[in-house]
Amino acid sequence: MTISARSDEASPGEQPKGLGAARASEELPIGEPRFASVPELRERLREVGYLADDGLAGVVYLADRLAKPVLVEGPAGTGKTELAKSVSRLTGARLIRLQCYEGLDEAKALYEWNYKKQLLRIQVESATPDEARRAGWEELEEDIFSEEFLLTRPLLEAIRASEPVVLLVDEVDRVEIETEALLLEILSDYQVSIPELGTVRATQIPLVFLTSNNTRELSEALKRRCLFLHLDYPSVEREREIVLAKVPGITEELADQVARIVRSLRSLELKKHPSISETLDWARTLVLLGIDSVDEQTARDTLHLLLKYRSDIETAAKEVAAATRRAPA
Ligand SMILES: Nc1ncnc2c1ncn2[C@@H]1O[C@H](COP(=O)(O)OP(=O)(O)OP(=O)(O)O)[C@@H](O)[C@H]1O
Ligand SMILES: [Mg+2]
Repeated sequence: MTISARSDEASPGEQPKGLGAARASEELPIGEPRFASVPELRERLREVGYLADDGLAGVVYLADRLAKPVLVEGPAGTGKTELAKSVSRLTGARLIRLQCYEGLDEAKALYEWNYKKQLLRIQVESATPDEARRAGWEELEEDIFSEEFLLTRPLLEAIRASEPVVLLVDEVDRVEIETEALLLEILSDYQVSIPELGTVRATQIPLVFLTSNNTRELSEALKRRCLFLHLDYPSVEREREIVLAKVPGITEELADQVARIVRSLRSLELKKHPSISETLDWARTLVLLGIDSVDEQTARDTLHLLLKYRSDIETAAKEVAAATRRAPA
């Protein structure tokens, strides 16, 4: 960790060198590239069980080279969180996760002072019998606002880490727009300002992933600092591959049928479309039940694994009946 009290404001006469983030990255301790090329990254993701296309791998590759965070947006269950976990697995970097929720504040996201310990320290000092040996207030203040009394939370933890880190800021759209501001300094300059201590700057740049279900519009300031990646439902071929990779014992035929049925359900007007996680749950169940091929009855009996609303299940049952008739197994 580096603690410095430098100011980050550009001096009045200083020429701006393009984008703020680009200027910052010129000063950042950018390490060796983590990935040799986009195809290599894609292959390594596959090795840890994450199936990506070149577009996705390209964004992660660039994020590393440009030292920029990735904002991953898309419907539920499309692999946003899993992407960060997979990158952490394949690089061997520690995953530090900040799970966002409404009401998340600085004390839970960045750092807080250990008030109990500070109080104890003050009490011990005032109980020192020898008055001459008692620390003055200034000395005491310096002491209780030092490293020893600091409780680090995920964002600061990631900045201070000396080992490689993947920082996952999960479901960032759940925090209030004001709270987003806590992230801005970290996302562009990889540093945290602590008034009592100075500025903590990263000595290695973490790979940062922010995920969002798009329940609200994120601020322009946040978006500007990130590379954007939209993860939608996969194609039939990719979902089939995901099922084959994640569901032991499934046959190619069944994986194909599962992917096709799920695809057709996603084209219906439903309250909630099935996500990849639900496809996987369904496929695992079919394997457990010893089913080699989905017929109308099996589909009807197991649709509750894919869909979570009664009206959706009814709509889907009709579609499955038609689909299984169209393509008999
Ligand atoms: N490209 C992929 N390759 C392999 N597995 C995938 C892929 N995409 C999704 N999955 C699987 O789908 C499941 C759901 O993924 P994940 O939890 O990352 O979704 P999410 O987008 O974060 O959803 P939410 O918005 O609900 O948090 C996981 O079990 C993951 O393994
Ligand atoms: Mg998630």
